[in-house]
Amino acid sequence: MREATVLTPKGVASRTTFLDWETQPSPFKHYPSFCHRIALENHPTLGWIGEIRTLTHTQKIFNKPYYRLNVPSAGNLHPIELYVQLRNVSGVLSGIYHLDTHANSLVLIEEIASEGLEPYVGLENRLYGALLFFTLVPFRSGWKYGMRGGRYLYLDLGHAVGGLMGVAHHYGKDFYPVTPQEPSVLNGRLGMGEEEYVAAVYAIGTLSDKTVQPLASPVMRVSPCDYTLENEPLHAWVASQKLYTSLHPHYGKWWTKQSNSTRRSSREFSPKAFGETILTTLLQMHSDTLEIIPIVLVAQTHPCGVYRAGVCCEEGNFTAEIVHLLLDQRFIARANVVILLFAQNFTAHAHSDAGVFAHELYSFGEHHGIGCSGIGAFYDELAVQWSPRPLLYAVALGEK
Ligand SMILES: Cc1cc2nc3c(=O)[nH]c(=O)nc-3n(C[C@H](O)[C@H](O)[C@H](O)COP(=O)(O)O)c2cc1C
Repeated sequence: MREATVLTPKGVASRTTFLDWETQPSPFKHYPSFCHRIALENHPTLGWIGEIRTLTHTQKIFNKPYYRLNVPSAGNLHPIELYVQLRNVSGVLSGIYHLDTHANSLVLIEEIASEGLEPYVGLENRLYGALLFFTLVPFRSGWKYGMRGGRYLYLDLGHAVGGLMGVAHHYGKDFYPVTPQEPSVLNGRLGMGEEEYVAAVYAIGTLSDKTVQPLASPVMRVSPCDYTLENEPLHAWVASQKLYTSLHPHYGKWWTKQSNSTRRSSREFSPKAFGETILTTLLQMHSDTLEIIPIVLVAQTHPCGVYRAGVCCEEGNFTAEIVHLLLDQRFIARANVVILLFAQNFTAHAHSDAGVFAHELYSFGEHHGIGCSGIGAFYDELAVQWSPRPLLYAVALGEK
């Protein structure tokens, strides 16, 4: 997969095709209007679900609405959907719901009683509470990025899970991953065709002592896009991945309701340096699964250069190298820090870990009023200057 998706200066320079944005597949899935709906705005018990994935900005570009969400997404394509099974939640019909992000409502796609989705995720008894299913829609990313879209699907998934971690932390909800023995069976029961795949499942609630039956028949099938084009290798790669199961219990503490609704990716930075505490905290952020290498480009309280575990191991001005690495995206030249995220192995799972870590950086930035942008476009082979491991993602941070 890595070899099939690397970006090289020659490959990027010789690209001749241009995207027709009129042909962008719909970023929102719509269930039929006859389905029962629950509006989430200010809903006393369910409002938190809407905050995991919510519309935060709408504008018109060339007479077409352009939507942005609380979570960032490569190319703003949003290849994720969220479903939730609710059982025994006071005042709410037990059932399987789709989160309609566009309308901020839950759409009932199947009522449940003694049967449910628990048996497909290894639970023998009824779960009182919520089972959350994140799915991936490969065509939404593949439409623009082709096979490289495979990387962005899992980085985006990490951001989505990072969003869940923030919400869970804020509302004091304990959650844990659950895994299906056979993801393809779960996909079928949830009504996913060949265009959508369950990629992570989390449980919030308590296991009751009541047994549960499998669903008698699959739920209705609705296409996640208004149209689709075949991309066999991308779909085959996504279909062959295990579900993401990581839990990062310390993440989510910077999340607030306010920052969830105002978060944006920075497109420019001002050249002011960070305060000492902010920079020190940033440089010390670490991950159990990723190799984190911050490169300080502008600072007053610390030397500029390459950092490892909070310590500057190579002083110098690396602005030119970093901007070139990141496909010569000029605005990055004014960032204070660019954090490179490497992994031991190039896997879908590691990409989601990188997305979760980056989401934490976004929340940290929003909390401290500093700008942040995930950067998924880079010349893969140039990253060996900093690590022999595969580079999965970069995050630029700077003053707004
Ligand atoms: C996986 C991923 C890769 C991204 N790569 C880039 C990038 O290379 N350059 C860039 O300027 N923004 C990049 N972004 C930021 C997106 O363009 C941005 O999230 C999207 O346009 C939506 O805007 P918003 O984050 O302000 O809601 C990336 C975001 C994600 C999640």
